Amino acid sequence: MKTFFSDEAVELDILKQRAFNLRWATVPEGTIALTAADPDFPCAPEIRNAIMDYTKSGYFSYGPPEGLPSFRKTVAEGLETRRGIQGSSKQVIPTNSAAYAMFLIAKYVLEPGDEVIIFDPVDFLFKKSVESAGGTPVYCPIEKSFATFNREELRSLVTPKTKMIAVCNPHNPLGHVLTRDELQFIADLAEEHDLYIMSDEIWSDIVFPPAEYISLASLSKEAAKRTFTVYGFSKTFGLAGLRLGFVHCPTEEIAEEVLELSEMRTTAYGVTTLSQIAGEAAWKHAWYYVDEFLEHLTEVRDIAYNWLNAIPGVDCRKPYGTYLMFPDISSFGKTSTEMADYLMKEAKVAVVPGAAKWFGPGAEGHIRICFSTSKKILMEGLDRIEQALVKL
Ligand SMILES: Cc1ncc(COP(=O)(O)O)c(C=O)c1O
Repeated sequence: MKTFFSDEAVELDILKQRAFNLRWATVPEGTIALTAADPDFPCAPEIRNAIMDYTKSGYFSYGPPEGLPSFRKTVAEGLETRRGIQGSSKQVIPTNSAAYAMFLIAKYVLEPGDEVIIFDPVDFLFKKSVESAGGTPVYCPIEKSFATFNREELRSLVTPKTKMIAVCNPHNPLGHVLTRDELQFIADLAEEHDLYIMSDEIWSDIVFPPAEYISLASLSKEAAKRTFTVYGFSKTFGLAGLRLGFVHCPTEEIAEEVLELSEMRTTAYGVTTLSQIAGEAAWKHAWYYVDEFLEHLTEVRDIAYNWLNAIPGVDCRKPYGTYLMFPDISSFGKTSTEMADYLMKEAKVAVVPGAAKWFGPGAEGHIRICFSTSKKILMEGLDRIEQALVKL
């Protein structure tokens, strides 16, 4: 039976035409793409219907540069009820993707030469956004088997040039969901040194029990007033091509300044209205779909976790957030790039290498596997990976 997340739901013919960013449309025929992190499933019907309803009249007029009031309101209410983040809709700025929100925050916070503490490994967008604003990323290593950081080490990295700590929660690629205690430590450190925090929460809906999601800005009023919360609709709702995200700013005043800086009011003129309509429908009507998605993801996560760890030489941590596995493959004596090339050639499976350019220097010795696909495709991919690895 075809359900949202059954084997039959994945339409490979369409994905091969539309899924770029290292995925199906970019790999040779016959390759399984377990690469960039977005789902292989069509989005919730409520989102499609909202887009079709809006489209019917044929009007695509300019929207307000600061975002549709209904989108901002839906987000502000959702952040309050689902995340415990207080604030008004004026603190919400829709952006063209979560990635763009990160660039915008870096541009707002940093002067050339300022430092931002980011974790290592972490998604390359952290380094890129800081550098694009003329800032210097300073790596705080994460101990990969426990996926946590050393608190004294983090403290020691703060210098007079530090302006911000940037957090990825849940963590891409390690799948760690930060605990209240870890978040509080970061918030206290930021308070002590008067730093901003960028909390990238694009993965915050993809959390598996017993992990519990806590937004940094919900910890306290003090934490909220220095935290930029970033969110995007690519991971949870499968809307990567609509390039929709938002930033929730610490205050209305800061949101005004960020908006000014974004050129939305002058030239760029806001985010495409159709994307905001889709995002609004997602947050209003599609949480039931996310619940089903999580059920599916729990099943395939456990399959991938058990399978990978049963392959001699592979060591993989269980992720409690994200739909990413980050197995350690260093025992095979290949670099992560060599391993990704080998798997591509030998197994016809595309994975992301744990190369510095994707995740920072601390990622070496790992590959990243996205398991947000059907059980059938994932199992075929894992089988091929196993066959290729046992030959080494
Ligand atoms: C942690 C993190 N932040 C941001 C993004 C970018 O998301 P978007 O598609 O909204 O640009 C990703 C996508 O992989 C991500 O993993």
